Amino acid sequence: QNLNEHWRPDFHFSPEKNWTNDPNGLIFLDGEYHLFYQFNPFENKWGHMSWGHAVSKDLIKWEHLPVAIPEDSVWIFSGSTVIDKNNSSGLDNGNGNCMVAIYTADYHNGKKEAQYLAYSNDKGRTWEKYAGNPVLDLNAKDFRDPNVFWHEKTKQWIMSVVLPTEYKVLFYGSPNLKNWNKLEEFGNQGDVRKIWECPSLTQFAVDGDSTKTKWLLMVSSNGPEQDFAGVQYFIGDFDGKSFKNDNTPDTKLYVDYGKDFYASIPWNNATQNQKLMLGWMLNWKYAENQPTFPWKGQMSVPRQIALKTFPEGVRLTQLPVEQFTPADSYRFFEKKDFVHTKEKLLNGSTLFAKNAYIIEADLTIKSSRDFGFKIAQNLNKEGKATQETIVGYDVKKQQLYLDRTNSGKIISPDFASVDKTFLKIDNKRLRLKIVVDKMSVEVFANDGAVAITSLIFPDPKATAFSLFCKKGKIKVNSLKIWDLSKK
Ligand code: FRU
Repeated sequence: QNLNEHWRPDFHFSPEKNWTNDPNGLIFLDGEYHLFYQFNPFENKWGHMSWGHAVSKDLIKWEHLPVAIPEDSVWIFSGSTVIDKNNSSGLDNGNGNCMVAIYTADYHNGKKEAQYLAYSNDKGRTWEKYAGNPVLDLNAKDFRDPNVFWHEKTKQWIMSVVLPTEYKVLFYGSPNLKNWNKLEEFGNQGDVRKIWECPSLTQFAVDGDSTKTKWLLMVSSNGPEQDFAGVQYFIGDFDGKSFKNDNTPDTKLYVDYGKDFYASIPWNNATQNQKLMLGWMLNWKYAENQPTFPWKGQMSVPRQIALKTFPEGVRLTQLPVEQFTPADSYRFFEKKDFVHTKEKLLNGSTLFAKNAYIIEADLTIKSSRDFGFKIAQNLNKEGKATQETIVGYDVKKQQLYLDRTNSGKIISPDFASVDKTFLKIDNKRLRLKIVVDKMSVEVFANDGAVAITSLIFPDPKATAFSLFCKKGKIKVNSLKIWDLSKK
């Protein structure tokens, strides 16, 4: 197989080599963001599941560390980590910040899955598996992805964990991470077309107001479109025992409307007003077909998440963390207040040359029906695009879309898709943030009210960038571009 490092993301995490899927055990400790991830240490395909490990100080550059938790007689499936500050588990050797991983052991002959512990007393560098494993075992074939946090009000650890084929999240409580007692369960609501995986429960101050708290329950399962995995969420209250959904059981809410965002979990222990998450940027449907070598799989941009009040209720919003768009970056370009018609290459700038940038656009619709950006264009001698990815807004349908039907290599029959979502805009104003990194596009609209994340495999020469406007005009109030390519 050929090396194809030209698709290697510049500022998104990808393993140096071999396979990754879900992010695991996201946690912040002493200035370091830890990213553990589902990893095959031996091959560029799923198998031998272990926890890979990387750390970052800024969420942009990642330092690769050795495998944290390797497979043994069981495979190490997804889970979370916590810092056991008060040594409730007795696993701390006196350093005061024992990191405990709670993960699923998969008895990879299909027999069963149970919850295990491992712990580290040196900030995640070396790990011991807990001698008393399993800590939670129902003798169930499918029972996985524990996500744990400390619930201050009831002074206990809370675990969310799924029975995937029953579309259920079970909640457990524990004083010490070792003994777990069942609280309540929640399920068979929202989208139940596909199995449920990777649950997480997080408390938020709605609209930043600490007197209005709500809980976000994320579950990886089906995407908005039939047959594609994705992440859904529920908003409600959690009293330390049960989760009450604010919406009707048939309400379906999705985290992302693209095809390549899955298994997202929040960061534990991040500073108080920092709520972050990150997801796997791929899809089980064609994950094995990804034409990258020597690695397969990468993570999304780390996202700042919040709950905000909209006319239809409280909803999740997400934006790339602000570290990516510093106000004073020297690799920065801005153009302001111009009216735009037809289609124009944005030139005079080499910012697009490496397909690794973030765009922030503030647009006002004048009379256009369909407008946006064309990314990773391959132009022929006549200047016509033979390849491109389109991020646009269809005014009549009120739809934000990402069209990758002609984006480059089509890696499976259903890869050539137009991913879209309804988006109502006020005052004819659309604000977009678009994150492009070699083989992926993440679109965030109107301060993160909706997101679309999709992979693309453009030709290495496909790096042109255009503004387009079908019929009529748009006004570009401002267009900012940050070049994030590795120099
Ligand atoms: C989700 C998932 C998890 C499981 C892991 C195995 O993508 O199927 O449910 O723990 O991947 O790699």
